[in-house]
Amino acid sequence: QIKTFRKIHNAPVQLLNVVDSTNTYLKNTSGLHKNGGCCLAEAQTAGRGRQGRRWISPFGASLYLSMYWGFQGGYQVLGGLSLVIGVAVVRALKAFGGISAQLKWPNDVYLNGKKLAGILVEIEGQLDDVSHCYIGVGLNIQMPTDPASAIDQPWTDLYTEMGSQVNRNQLASTLLDHLYQLLHLFAEQGLTPFLKEWQAYNLFQDKWVKMLCGPKDFSGQCRGINDQGALLVETGKGMQAFYGGEISVRAH
Ligand code: BTN
Repeated sequence: QIKTFRKIHNAPVQLLNVVDSTNTYLKNTSGLHKNGGCCLAEAQTAGRGRQGRRWISPFGASLYLSMYWGFQGGYQVLGGLSLVIGVAVVRALKAFGGISAQLKWPNDVYLNGKKLAGILVEIEGQLDDVSHCYIGVGLNIQMPTDPASAIDQPWTDLYTEMGSQVNRNQLASTLLDHLYQLLHLFAEQGLTPFLKEWQAYNLFQDKWVKMLCGPKDFSGQCRGINDQGALLVETGKGMQAFYGGEISVRAH
């Protein structure tokens, strides 16, 4: 069970038992709205994934955490934010246990070809010229087969991959540290310092992929990302850049 926790970098950390969603809780808790302010929960009753999906969140089986960051300026500076969070998760896994995870654009974390963690970045208003970002990470540690059997894509957890118990507090602390450090750097320098590293972790680097973008699909070879975080795919018509939104990428 997650018990005590140090304050990271002077930002408040709140530990919760059961919540609807740590992202929702963070949004509604102004006391945590300081850069690096975060909350962690043991379970979520309405965990949310990207594109309106739900995130199954059994008690004590994963890390469910959300961190706040306020960025000066508008959405345009935030194109690469979710990619940077992916890099932070990969770095934290490496530092924690020498685990080599990969990233599936824009920010799914994969281990041995299966999804290990998901990232949900939600951005609100610019009334005061600050973009308020609520950054959620769900990282599977030791999932029970039920209700996890309802997960509709190949997934894994750290226990299965490492074959041993995982110190959840230590992992949480390592992850929060990396998130804080990389968000700080991103606020100062944008995506540029992370471009090469993201590509090094790219699950599909130089592989054939299919881009699912509504009525029209595109196939080509994945060539990494541009400086705005768009995925570059070399198609028959030359290099195409795919920007966020409702696009999914699959192996071809
Ligand atoms: C995805 O891959 O679709 C993103 C999943 C994000 C899940 C995390 S768990 C902590 C935080 N709270 C939520 O409701 N969602 C995120």
